[in-house]
Amino acid sequence: MPELVHAGGVIDETRERVKLAYGKAIGKRRSEVITPALILDRHAARRNIEKMANRLTDLPAKIRPHIKVHKSPELARMQVEAGAIGISTATVWEAVVMVRSGLDSIFIVNTVDGPDKLATIAVLARDADVMVAVDEAENAARIARAAQAAGSTVGVLIEVDTGMDRAGVDTAEQALELAGKLVQMKGIRLLGVTGYEGHCSLTPEEDLRAQRQHQAMTFLTRTAEDLRTKGYPCPIVSAGGTATWNLTAADPHVTEIQAGSYVVMDNFHGAMVGDFEKALTVATTVISRPHDRVIVDAGNKSLGAPALSTIIGHDNKGIRFDEEHGIFVSRDNEPLRVGDVVELVPGYAPGTVNWYDAYHVVEDDRVVDIWPVIPRGPGHGGLIA
Ligand SMILES: Cc1ncc(COP(=O)(O)O)c(C=O)c1O
Repeated sequence: MPELVHAGGVIDETRERVKLAYGKAIGKRRSEVITPALILDRHAARRNIEKMANRLTDLPAKIRPHIKVHKSPELARMQVEAGAIGISTATVWEAVVMVRSGLDSIFIVNTVDGPDKLATIAVLARDADVMVAVDEAENAARIARAAQAAGSTVGVLIEVDTGMDRAGVDTAEQALELAGKLVQMKGIRLLGVTGYEGHCSLTPEEDLRAQRQHQAMTFLTRTAEDLRTKGYPCPIVSAGGTATWNLTAADPHVTEIQAGSYVVMDNFHGAMVGDFEKALTVATTVISRPHDRVIVDAGNKSLGAPALSTIIGHDNKGIRFDEEHGIFVSRDNEPLRVGDVVELVPGYAPGTVNWYDAYHVVEDDRVVDIWPVIPRGPGHGGLIA
């Protein structure tokens, strides 16, 4: 078994480092921060969390929100305090941060392999309920061996490809065959199926999106039923993103949804789902004003899906995003001048957050706290268990 270090130290150090680096902003107005800066409106995020929690009280599914969107233990805790049954993560390192930050029920909604990553999952499963997606037996056997070596049990959900053409089994027969093998393995426990309908998030037309969501959930929930009929355990049926959360959470056969972006929102999701607030922005400074352009200091190294980003309070259209330049059309009688600080709503929140060390947490017009974004990037950052 690979040697593992406890990740708590890395998390504490990161928290201290960002407080030291960005803490001078606390107490300032949001227009006074050093740009580009990631701004989180805490009240708006809380309202989004509460809105989702309230709506779910009338629906059969619970929520296990996807935290790859915000990578923030603070926001994850707010979600759990509001009734989330746990959290979903994309990476093992996100799971490490969340477990070592006190969250105790984690679903890594991805298939995972590699000895260090599997050992890390297995070690985490000593201290928390940890589940991971699987779609083939050999990989599951390696997870099972890692868990046996760590003396833990890892929950597994069979990933079903519900139309996204990503990972997952393609047929109920494959799911049944895989389930037959999984239940023989010591160290893992089969707990159900997962089938995020991500292709629906790429379907802006509402009717077509609903049609695709219906097809996807019909396939997923029938597969779950087939597993139960053959005597396999399937208490969990997990799916659902922000673009389809209401439809998927209303399906009586879905037990939990994985929606994540609703907590901060962005222009990509906002174009499909209008009733959550934009709690995440990027503060940026106008750095040049050629006669037909407004250029800000946030480009494609500061924003996810920059072409979809907008300047709050202005309707300038984005033209192009270089690494450190966001170039917008200047309008007639353009009021924006060099030195003005404006805020952008990002095109895509998860891809924006990942660029930053820290959130400038604001209430009304003032920065009230600095929260780390952890872990950034795809690397492990020393977070091995
Ligand atoms: C597997 C999985 N589940 C859930 C989500 C959450 O989707 P959203 O951020 O649209 O709510 C994602 C997002 O990419 C995902 O990959």
